[in-house]
Amino acid sequence: MIDVRLATVSKRFDTSSDAAAVDNVTITIGAGEFFTLLGPSGCGKTTTLRMVAGFYFPTSGHIHFGDDDVTRWSPNKRDTGMVFQNYALFPHMSVAQNVAYGLKVRRVPRADRARRVEEALAQVHLTGYGDRRIDALSGGQQQRVALARALVIRPRTLLLDEPLSNLDAKLREETRTEIRRIQRESGITSLYVTHDQAEAMAMSDRIAVMQSGRVQQVGTPHEVYYTPANAFVARFIGRSNVLSLPVVSARETRVEVRLPGGATLDVGAAVGHRLAEGDTALVSARPEHITIAGPDEESALRGRISHIEFTGMATHLSVDVDGTDVMAAVIDAPVGIQLGDVVGLRLVPERLWVVQP
Ligand SMILES: Nc1ncnc2c1ncn2[C@@H]1O[C@H](COP(=O)(O)OP(=O)(O)OP(=O)(O)O)[C@@H](O)[C@H]1O
Ligand SMILES: [Mg+2]
Repeated sequence: MIDVRLATVSKRFDTSSDAAAVDNVTITIGAGEFFTLLGPSGCGKTTTLRMVAGFYFPTSGHIHFGDDDVTRWSPNKRDTGMVFQNYALFPHMSVAQNVAYGLKVRRVPRADRARRVEEALAQVHLTGYGDRRIDALSGGQQQRVALARALVIRPRTLLLDEPLSNLDAKLREETRTEIRRIQRESGITSLYVTHDQAEAMAMSDRIAVMQSGRVQQVGTPHEVYYTPANAFVARFIGRSNVLSLPVVSARETRVEVRLPGGATLDVGAAVGHRLAEGDTALVSARPEHITIAGPDEESALRGRISHIEFTGMATHLSVDVDGTDVMAAVIDAPVGIQLGDVVGLRLVPERLWVVQP
């Protein structure tokens, strides 16, 4: 197992423009780790992955696989297994022939080839499918063949670019569980690309959230969810209200803010948040960390319900608090609550978090 390190990696396609597709990215993917690049369309995920694979060279910066500086190595020297969105299988070949392809190119002897293809098919739970035609397989099975084809060469790293986006919702969930199982069993250092935050949260050891070519935050799913670095991460991972509240006092990792009603709340913050009395803090409050309070409860936000939706599991509310829409997802909403009602909203203090702009 090896780690993969990107050090101040940038990529400019158009050297005359200021905008870099990937801008000064520094990340370390630990040996055996399942690491995800997550972000909206065009933020530079694929470009980053392609630089790790060797299809693009960085404009500046370095990429290491373990002790090897692979920055300028050609793709075939890097020993990476790749899985793409469109499975890129050969439709006229059988499953076994598709999986064997990389071994043939690498001149692995025929006898070894057959055994390794069997092993790889067993790994993805497709034993017995070797003779099937590709077009006689479901989308999920085809994606598993693509995975077997990547794994059979025993790569040092596995690179996956939105491998589930062509599958329907149910198959997507099943296949993501499969991919993670196979990755755990094989222990291959893996870099995964997706724009789907739920997928990233469910699968990853750690996530790098990207926007406009830059890494906004690197952390475990828990860290990016509960302690987002900035307003973008708070809103992109799940849903979040970002409230502007005046600072009453600030300490190392806590900030006391004042609610519109006058009550104060103690909110968590990252070390070095640089806020002081009189500043405005941006406080991230997730809809599921807001409950309904009595309209007169002192420490609550107050407002009128501008939108209400009952989904079975929760009641989703939009509440107009002095012109700001605050979203709440309430498990036990009072019976009879309806559009236009004035309600109090209680914030769960231990779940609030100060974010950077
Ligand atoms: N070959 C290329 N030539 C010029 N510009 C490119 C090229 N490939 C990507 N770009 C630009 O670089 C930026 C990042 O693209 P990239 O494909 O890495 O985004 P992405 O995060 O993978 O997006 P998506 O989720 O849509 O796949 C975009 O602005 C894109 O237009
Ligand atoms: Mg992409």
